[in-house]
Amino acid sequence: MEEKVQLSYNGQHIEFPLVEGSQGEKAIDIQSLRAQTGLITLDPGYKNTGSCSSAITFLDGEKGILRYRGYDIAALAEKVSFLEVAFLLIFGELPTEEQLTKLQDDIHHESLVDEDIKTILKSFPKSAHPMGVLSSLTSALISFNPSSVDVDSDEDMYKAIVLLMAKFPILCSWAQRKIKGLPLNYADTSLSYTENFAKMMFRMPQQEYTAKPEIIRALNKLLILHADHEQNCSTSTVRIVGSSHAGLFASISAGISALWGPLHGGANQAVIEMLEAIKEDGGDTEKFMAKAKDKNDPFRLMGFGHRVYKNFDPRAKIIKQTADEVLGQLGIEDPILDIAKKLEKQALNDPYFVDRKLYPNVDFYSGIIYRAMGIPTEMFTVMFALGRLPGWIAQWREMRLGKEPIGRPRQIYTGHTERFI
Ligand code: ACO
Repeated sequence: MEEKVQLSYNGQHIEFPLVEGSQGEKAIDIQSLRAQTGLITLDPGYKNTGSCSSAITFLDGEKGILRYRGYDIAALAEKVSFLEVAFLLIFGELPTEEQLTKLQDDIHHESLVDEDIKTILKSFPKSAHPMGVLSSLTSALISFNPSSVDVDSDEDMYKAIVLLMAKFPILCSWAQRKIKGLPLNYADTSLSYTENFAKMMFRMPQQEYTAKPEIIRALNKLLILHADHEQNCSTSTVRIVGSSHAGLFASISAGISALWGPLHGGANQAVIEMLEAIKEDGGDTEKFMAKAKDKNDPFRLMGFGHRVYKNFDPRAKIIKQTADEVLGQLGIEDPILDIAKKLEKQALNDPYFVDRKLYPNVDFYSGIIYRAMGIPTEMFTVMFALGRLPGWIAQWREMRLGKEPIGRPRQIYTGHTERFI
């Protein structure tokens, strides 16, 4: 028998169906609530609200599970490339060799942006934050590629995806070159997606560049671990903007802005700044732990806590291990890694953090790796955006193909009742 949930209101008993996901998660389907009762639900921050059904990413915050299209994140990070994960997320299956070669070739073919984009880039001050630059340039891509995507055409959809996957890493690398005052690099189409990105970021005009394999391995892992995370703030932004049938590039540009915030993707920059500040202050981690616990102090332990992970963040585990490996392989000793480890140890034994189920999240160690690679702190969230791009595209595509209605929440009005002048 179909399970139902009953609501009693105004002497009426109304039944709502339960929907169940493929992993046994249950939700009350309240689509007829307002029509039947005149009521709406109120859930600031959407802590209890599912905005859609999705077949892309499964996560269980209590058990610390994260899977893309059914595959465990740790296995993917170990065994496949970022481009394979991008294909998996967007199209639902890992690519065959033939599909992967075609995608790589198509991306190589589209790996250039209009020279006039450089003029826009030039007009930003050197002090501009790369996330602002990236969001603006992604939005500007619309004007240079104005044809709208016919979402019912597989070919059209594929073309738009290839275009964005090809041009986005160029814009990300240019955002870094800009703040460093370096000449802009174009893609080297003989290289893989990740190698090419590293070359565009780091190649100096006076010498050739070959990326160290350990850097490419770590970069590949980091990008995979960031590639999707179901209905987080930026992804929900991409879906909601796209639900108005704004184009793919416009939706992604909005997602970049959402990711920028320090409570979301901006946390990786905030973590390093926090660790640096602790170091500058003499390295007394206990002092900063006390500040984090003090309700009268706005300081928070950045890189700690997560809206859904209440046990551990499976990405953080892999990233911590990768940080140890990369720094070891590159022979780098970074005192802020020791500070990070000390903070983690103290927090995991402190009732304040234990009781509130606050664990290191994906951002706690990722910045330490980016730093070891020579990526400036302001660029960390751009790196997150590059990793998240396939997830955003996959979610946008799913939303459009699913013919989802325009996203338009309701509210409870608390302002003045009618007034007269
Ligand atoms: N340091 C100190 N206290 C914290 C922290 C923290 N990092 N995170 C949460 N808390 C406390 C809150 O003060 C609150 O305490 P209270 O119950 O006594 O009032 C309790 O833990 C619950 O916190 P909320 O803010 O209600 O939890 P929410 O799920 O809304 O927020 C968030 C999650 C935004 C990630 C939060 O933990 C945070 O601000 N962390 C630091 C920023 C960060 O690392 N963001 C990256 C998230 S991962 C990502 O987006 C990729």
